[in-house]
Amino acid sequence: MSNKLDKAREYEVKKEMTIPEQQRPAFHLTPRCGWMNDPNGFSSYKGEYHLFYQYYPYDTVWGPMHWGHAKSKDLITWEYLPVAMAPDEEYDKDGCFSGSATELEDGRQLLIYTGVNKVEEESGEIKEYQTQCVAVGDGVNYEKFGNNPVITSEMLPEGAGKYDFRDPKVWRENGRYYMVVGNKTPDRDGQILQYVSDDGFKWTYDKTVIKNNHRFGAMWECPDYFPLEGKQILLTSPQDMLPEELEFHNGNGTLCIIGSLDENGNFCEENCQAVDYGIDFYAPQTILTKDGRRVMIGWMQNWDTCGIRRDDFPWFGQMSFPREITLHNNKLIQRPVREIENYYGKRISRQNVLISDSASLSSIEGRCIDMTINVRSTGEDLSYRKFEVRFADNGKAYSTVEYDPEQGIVKIDRKHSGSRRAIVHQRRCRVANNGGDIKLRLILDRYSMELFINDGEQVMSMVILTDIKAEGISFKATGELLMDVEMYELERK
Ligand code: FRU
Repeated sequence: MSNKLDKAREYEVKKEMTIPEQQRPAFHLTPRCGWMNDPNGFSSYKGEYHLFYQYYPYDTVWGPMHWGHAKSKDLITWEYLPVAMAPDEEYDKDGCFSGSATELEDGRQLLIYTGVNKVEEESGEIKEYQTQCVAVGDGVNYEKFGNNPVITSEMLPEGAGKYDFRDPKVWRENGRYYMVVGNKTPDRDGQILQYVSDDGFKWTYDKTVIKNNHRFGAMWECPDYFPLEGKQILLTSPQDMLPEELEFHNGNGTLCIIGSLDENGNFCEENCQAVDYGIDFYAPQTILTKDGRRVMIGWMQNWDTCGIRRDDFPWFGQMSFPREITLHNNKLIQRPVREIENYYGKRISRQNVLISDSASLSSIEGRCIDMTINVRSTGEDLSYRKFEVRFADNGKAYSTVEYDPEQGIVKIDRKHSGSRRAIVHQRRCRVANNGGDIKLRLILDRYSMELFINDGEQVMSMVILTDIKAEGISFKATGELLMDVEMYELERK
């Protein structure tokens, strides 16, 4: 084991002990200490789920990337494992960037990642070389391959860019290994390249899966590519997206491109949508569970709003709640994984509650809950102009979800959540207009809110760092409406 890895392993164990359990979310994975960004190597291995992550253990800001590591039996309760990789080789000395994992035929686990190496060119300019590298291990300890990197800039197709070439996602199919990798062309356009291998170590260029053609942002980061219900899905996270109306407001956002494969296995695009319409969601990866569900996890953070932080927390960054993804009418549907039900505690349910001004319902409160609200007009005609759910409320700090049935717009807002920074705190999303009917499911887990609208047609996620004692929940209408609410407290086991 290298000194760097050894040092990181010792450090994280000591530092973790200084973080009280209450200071982290109960169900969302946070870094063992320090900084976390993208999920990496999300995979099943020897009957358990493994989730690695972009990790800088020594500070709560981005630094030379390590791979943090955790495992879980149900995708919800995670157990930390020792940091898996440190940037300790010449070819990855400036970071072990994002990547993925699969199981080799001989039962070992293969990690594939991007090695970053900054080189001073003859001109004096510093250039960052990104190559694809592998490491092999037993689920805890990993050894980097002696012949790394396995894919260099020499193996790029014509027209590809030499510098932005990262985030391999690997899978096994018909006895071969495949990977897709993000790339940026010299004229700042994203594309996804596919490579193929017989053994996971020796790779050749296969094809270009898709080109952005200057539609969505520039570099396309963190691709994932998989079949779903007879369709083929490409997930990617473009950098520097330009907002269009209410779409693509996150700067660096996430796209789900739904398509199909033609007879030659080429990807034909059909539909494209944002994955998450909230503020904090990026770089998702998926796995297929044993019972055939496609489950996605993303980094629940936005690169541009990392300034919202708690100086008293020795960790920064968290994963989203894992989401089962399916298709309906060629659109993406997302729902919290059903394993959440195993964590249900007290249930509170109220039907046909008339809301006309402001209402707090007794016992509806908390920061660790799964709450579904069904709203409708009181008669045939639209009887309200606005519905608001206020949560994480202590009378001074609070956050909201609002619905405007005339416009068909849902808005999330954390500007009063306790943040002292003038950065993005609101996001709006256009939803299906159902004459005043809407279904809102809120998952609160201490420091976040994920909103699933109309059974997962749209999702809006945001981090809130409000004092944990702010537990109030209330409902308000302009006009009058009827509401059913069902809430479960979420309890750790
Ligand atoms: C996306 C990303 C990846 C890269 C990693 C570095 O958030 O920029 O493209 O591999 O983060 O930490």
